[in-house]
Amino acid sequence: MSNKTTAIGHSNIAFIKYWGNRDAKLRIPLNDSISMNLDALTTTTTVAFDDALDQDIVQLDDQPADEKTAARVREHLTRVRALAHIETRARVASRNNFPAAAGLASSASAFAALSVAAARAAGLDLSERELSILARQGSGSAARSIPGGFVEWLAAKDVNYTSEQSYARTLMPPDAWALTDVIALVSPDAKKVGSTEGHAAAPSSPFLAERLARLPMRYHHVRRQTLAKNLTRLGPDLEAEAIELHMLAMTSQPPIFYWAPGTVRVLDAVRAWRAEGLEAYYTLDAGPNVHILVAQQDAAELARRVRALEGVQDVLTSGPGGAARVSEDHLF
Ligand code: DP6
Repeated sequence: MSNKTTAIGHSNIAFIKYWGNRDAKLRIPLNDSISMNLDALTTTTTVAFDDALDQDIVQLDDQPADEKTAARVREHLTRVRALAHIETRARVASRNNFPAAAGLASSASAFAALSVAAARAAGLDLSERELSILARQGSGSAARSIPGGFVEWLAAKDVNYTSEQSYARTLMPPDAWALTDVIALVSPDAKKVGSTEGHAAAPSSPFLAERLARLPMRYHHVRRQTLAKNLTRLGPDLEAEAIELHMLAMTSQPPIFYWAPGTVRVLDAVRAWRAEGLEAYYTLDAGPNVHILVAQQDAAELARRVRALEGVQDVLTSGPGGAARVSEDHLF
């Protein structure tokens, strides 16, 4: 199959969170966000459009995808078909290099890889910005996994916003700062409430408006301290942002609780170790696992301590990752 294309996308961890959409269908967020791509956490996806197919075929980790996931992938393929003015159905195979059951199942790396592979397989030659806009519509945080390194994703600001206004761009390349993410896996369960439902529920929290009013100041500070590579000044805002995300979720209607008992144990431990001089700061996505940001030279010691905590099932370590890219290692 001549159009067969494979791409690799990295997961990312947000410093400033995406929580709530201005336009849920287009996934245009309520606020700008900042993240770091994760070198060690990838999705590899192969796409081939084939005239012989009468429907899209979607495989994840060598199994047929569940219906909900398959439908979301088909919708994304249809966006690509519309851009390429084709009707052809595709075969898609995708694999994560981290355990799917770890609760890290990453729609960011998945939709970044799918966007790069499907666009090229369909004969499109999209710019990084166009790929980010495309990936965003599959999963918001995937917009940030298209460019490399430390990334910011801009919300559309105009009253008459358009989809083209919301895309991600590199703030700083991955090799600019050897910041390390030590990920404590505290629950093997797939998360109960997906981010998409979380975004939809966000406006029901009485605190969302207050957050959005205050966020530009925190954003500015996080952006500046990221560029300054100053973990000491960045860290407290990373933690405040994570707590705020979960506070919003817990105060939504209906409330969403992502934390597990192990989550609280890890947060307590990080605070205690920091008081003793091991400088590390936590953040969390919409799930129970804890991401701990630390200087590269402290990562091994931190990982050793995290592994010994009760309730921690596994620990992954990652430095900053590059952009989503084409690969020659096809999955079929
Ligand atoms: C808490 O990008 O997973 O991780 O657009 O519905 O796929 P969808 O949501 P998603 O939301 C990510 C939410 C978050 C914060 C973040 O990564 O910014």
